[in-house]
Amino acid sequence: MESYKKLLLANKSWIQEKLVLKPDYFEELAKDQKPEFLWLGCSDSRVPAEEITGTQPGELFVHRNIANLAVHTDFNMLSVLQYAVDYLKVKHIIVCGHYGCGGVKAAMTNQHFGLLNKWLRNIKDVYRHNRQELEIYGDQEKKTNRLVELNVMEQVHNLARTSIVQRAWHNFQRPTIHGWVYDLKTGAIKDLVMVKPGTRLDDIYMFDFSESP
Ligand code: CO
Repeated sequence: MESYKKLLLANKSWIQEKLVLKPDYFEELAKDQKPEFLWLGCSDSRVPAEEITGTQPGELFVHRNIANLAVHTDFNMLSVLQYAVDYLKVKHIIVCGHYGCGGVKAAMTNQHFGLLNKWLRNIKDVYRHNRQELEIYGDQEKKTNRLVELNVMEQVHNLARTSIVQRAWHNFQRPTIHGWVYDLKTGAIKDLVMVKPGTRLDDIYMFDFSESP
């Protein structure tokens, strides 16, 4: 059987499983979505957001890209963020990176990857900002994994630096932004950082909402 056909067959049995437990499962799910979490994760096939967090359809609003980046000119990410914050009113945003991330590894080399260079450049900037700490590590794997953590923390702050998040902090005291790292070798998630609504950022990134809508 061609591999893609397995996916369609699996879909049929998944429908049956759901309907046996709850005959109106799809009818109910189709009505609305009220996810409490926005997930910004890596596209890596080994880090499936719902599976590793035990969440069900309807619980996570998901955006994934290479190396879980929040780039302030990325209209795709920003549209997802705005919809999640302004319309779905999510309470938490989770940035989840993972050790052994191929995007982070690639950014640490001098190889060129065509269009990808422009995306990976964002990770190179995180490396440059943290060069002193990173170059203490003799072991390449430890160095990569520390950059994975630093990259997650940078993306958490990139989200906090958006007017979308700051306006929601100002008006509604949400969302809290979390930085997590998933370990491919153990399945465990490490809780790295939490940035609560109203956290003071570097002054230059703070927007003033006192007079504007
Ligand atoms: Co990755």
